[in-house]
Amino acid sequence: MLDAARAAADFIRSSAPSLATLDWREKARADFVSDIDVGAESRIADHLLGRFPSAVVLGEELSPSAALMEELVFVVDPLDGTTNFLHGYPQYAVSIAAVSSGETLAGVVLDVARDSHYSATRGGGAQRDGTPIRVSTTTEPRRALIGTGFPFKHPYRLDAYIQQLARVIAETSGVRRAGAAALDLTDVASGRLDAFWELMLAPWDVAAGLLIIREAGGRVTDLEGRDATPAHGPVVASNGALHEWLLELLARPGADASVTDRPSA
Ligand code: IPD
Ligand code: CA
Ligand code: CA
Repeated sequence: MLDAARAAADFIRSSAPSLATLDWREKARADFVSDIDVGAESRIADHLLGRFPSAVVLGEELSPSAALMEELVFVVDPLDGTTNFLHGYPQYAVSIAAVSSGETLAGVVLDVARDSHYSATRGGGAQRDGTPIRVSTTTEPRRALIGTGFPFKHPYRLDAYIQQLARVIAETSGVRRAGAAALDLTDVASGRLDAFWELMLAPWDVAAGLLIIREAGGRVTDLEGRDATPAHGPVVASNGALHEWLLELLARPGADASVTDRPSA
């Protein structure tokens, strides 16, 4: 998986100089894709299927509907933080997880601009560039730095989200939104962030990061506190100590942030 992620990262890096002439396509509102995302994913798939021919690849660009409940599934985001990449903003990653019958066995997130990688195996701990990492030890919300992602693809969730954001800003030392969910999760795993939440992420955004956080001693759930799985849905991640506080803060009465259906026009 690390070899596959490195092949994709090399391809992404080699494409950066030609950004100005790159063609972007809009998959949905504010959701762009370029030949770089697609080329990176086909390189990853070639690598993984060359080694594990009977595996399934569930990848954002080429096979987003592949089944997750198979004997060996690689869940792939070939370029997490596409908008950042397209603007030359150096926060984007390659994320790959190996999932067997629904259980995540291993994960890799490669921070392309910093050429640094995060990895974890089930029961084997989490590492950055081979060195063990742990979540932070922060217990006081007012000292906490919290990451988030805006619901920019789901504007009907914005009102509810803004109320959550206001509460988190009021109770903590700060909030950051860097634009690549896989790296937000590894930032929680390595203690750079104390917690993180986003109202809608996809399996490929989170599959590797969930394992990396848990193996680093942290907790990842949905908004109700149920263990998060590689699925489409909200994610609340933390160092564990701040988890109940954050769940309670996000759930305080206000607009309903958990709505899952787009209101009719
Ligand atoms: C996006 C990034 C972003 C998050 C979005 C994701 P993409 O992934 O992770 O931080 O807010 O929800 O879709 O589209 O750049 O792979
Ligand atoms: Ca992504
Ligand atoms: Ca992507």
